[in-house]
This record gives sequence, C-alpha cells and structure tokens, in this order.
Amino acid sequence: MGKGRVLALVSVISGFGAYTPKNSVSNDELSQMIDTSDQWIRDRTGIESRFIADPLESTSSLGVEAAKAAILDANISPKDIDLIVCATSTPDKTFPATAALIQAQIGANVGIAFDIQAVCSGFVYGMAVVDAMLKSGQAKNALLVGADTFSRILDWSDRGTSVLFGDGAGACVMRAMDSTKAEGKGVLANVLRADGKYADILNVDSGASSGSRVGKLRMEGQAVFRHAVTNISEAILTCCERAGKTVDQIDWFVPHQANKRILDGVAKRLGISDDKVIMTVQIHGNTSAASVPLAFDTARKDGRIKAGDLVLLEAMGGGLTWGASLIQL
Ligand code: ACO
Repeated sequence: MGKGRVLALVSVISGFGAYTPKNSVSNDELSQMIDTSDQWIRDRTGIESRFIADPLESTSSLGVEAAKAAILDANISPKDIDLIVCATSTPDKTFPATAALIQAQIGANVGIAFDIQAVCSGFVYGMAVVDAMLKSGQAKNALLVGADTFSRILDWSDRGTSVLFGDGAGACVMRAMDSTKAEGKGVLANVLRADGKYADILNVDSGASSGSRVGKLRMEGQAVFRHAVTNISEAILTCCERAGKTVDQIDWFVPHQANKRILDGVAKRLGISDDKVIMTVQIHGNTSAASVPLAFDTARKDGRIKAGDLVLLEAMGGGLTWGASLIQL
C-alpha cells in the first residue's frame, strides 16, 4: 500500500452453506391433520412440502449445521471468525443471543456475536449490517446465519397460516478485502426499509414483556400480499440504482420464498424472466430468515449460481420490514 493511502474495504462472500431438518412433510400429510388440500396450497402458494424440525432440534442447532457447511466452504477455521450475526425471530431463548450459542457450538470464541430480528427480511438486514461492519474494519471474517423454527410458533389450528411455513437454516462467510485486490467482487449495495404501522398484519401475539408466553404467528394474508409486490420492486430498483447497475444485468434473483404468486408478481412488474428467479418455495415453504440463504445454497449446489455472477437478494417480512442486496460473486 502506498504511503498515505486509505485502505478501502469490500465485503466478499467466501463460503455458503445450508441445512434442513430430516423430516419433510408433504401437503397431503398436512391435510390429514388440518382441513386443507394439496390443491389449495399449491394453487395459492406453490408450496408442495416443508421441513419440520425434530423436537430435539432448535434454531441454534440448525444454524450450527449451516454455519459448519459455510465455514468448510470458505476453507477457514472457526477460530478465524470474529463476527457472528444470526438473523432469527425464533431464538432458542429470549437471551443469550442465538449467535452466541452458535459461536460456542462451532468452536469460535473471539470477536462479536449478536442477533438481528427482522423476521423474513432478517438475512438481508444481516447482510447490510455485516457489510457495514466489515467495511468499517470492525471484523475480518464474519459469519451470517439465517435460521428459524417457525413450526414452534404456528397455531396448527389456523389453516390460513400453518400450511405456509417450514424450518431451516442457511449461512454465509464474508471476508473484508482490500478493494484493489477484490477484482470487483463483493456486496455492491444494500437497501433496508421498515414501516412499523403495519406491525399488526403479521406478528406473533405474545412475548417476554407482553403476555409472557412465546405466542403464535398471526397474519392477515391478503394485506401482506398487497404490500409485498410494490415494496419489493421498489427495493430492487433502488438497490440497482445505488450500485450503478440495471435489472437486466443481474444474473440471478434470490427472493424470499414466501409465495410463488408474490415472486411471479415482482418478476412480471420488473420484466425479469422466470429462468433467472431461484424458486425453492415448493420444497422449503416459507422458512423466514433462512429462506434466502437456503434458496441461494440450492442454486449454487445445482450449478446455476457461479463465481462471477451478479446476484440480487430480496425479502419482505413482519414489521413490516423489507430490503435488497446486490452482490458480485
Ligand atoms: N386450505 C384450504 N382453504 C383455506 C386454507 C387452507 N390452508 N386457508 C384459507 N383457506 C380458505 C379460507 O377459509 C377462505 O375460505 P372462504 O372463502 O370460504 O372464507 C378461502 O380459502 C380464501 O382465504 P384467503 O385468506 O382469502 O386466501 P388468499 O387467496 O388470500 O390466500 C394466502 C391466502 C396464501 C395466505 C395469501 O393471502 C398470501 O400468500 N399472502 C401473503 C402471505 C405471505 O407471503 N406471508 C409471508 C410474509 S413474510 C413473513 O415475515 C412471515
């Protein structure tokens, strides 16, 4: 480095991993417990099955498996990780943070660990926070985990919500790199948004300081649906603008997997061809903060997402919160 040059850092994705529980439950199996049908669920959501955690599994245990896979993929030691952020709204306990539990279980013990709670937007929120921390020199190797066990907060007597969600975890390792050596790779732009006046249309009806129980998920599905396409489209366009890219230049869209109709609606509005949209809602259902990294990992493993690709992540969830990140791999 030349004398006096200020080191500009970028956040480069160096590893990815994911984990789903063993137990996959089909729509037909659900219809034996709930007054629903495979046809209704497929037609309204695109979901065919979802994974449900075993009673002995927890958000942290799913997160640990995803984290181990991402660390292996990054080819580093857990001891090198000096920042762990876990996006979840189903933590193992009210505290400590699930990130701290994951830190201990993967054998990391230095640096920073905390959780982010932005429901289904959690992984995208986490991406922006980790990116900012790496760029400001607060850590060198970060682990971002998105993990949720929504099966634990579903009201299984409510067919309008219980058929939509599943459990899982995804993770990525991000490295702070000198921009002159990164060859254009890294997180190019992030957009985060929230509008708390819509808190009531998607929430959990109790918590530690109100009701003193974990509570159950409640959702006004049509109201959430109405906001989704508009909000997500705006976030994508703003994110591209911030990065100086156009929607046409993006190789892959990795959206939050809530509902096939929302994904189709956003693609249609922005003129994105279907073959650029990674869709895993059919096998995962809505896994909240795990949804974007699970979809990303699936497309990377099957060879669609490759080094050098320009990838857009986007999500919307309870809060309401929403956002997007544009990444050059
Ligand atoms: N099986 C069969 N029938 C059902 C089911 C079910 N699982 N659920 C509802 N129905 C019935 C209703 O009772 C209603 O019957 P009625 O007409 O006799 O009264 C009918 O189906 C229509 O119900 P709606 O709720 O109006 O169905 P809608 O077409 O809106 O689809 C859905 C519901 C799929 C939830 C849709 O509104 C949606 O996808 N919304 C967005 C949800 C979403 O993406 N949430 C995730 C946000 S991210 C996060 O943070 C968690």
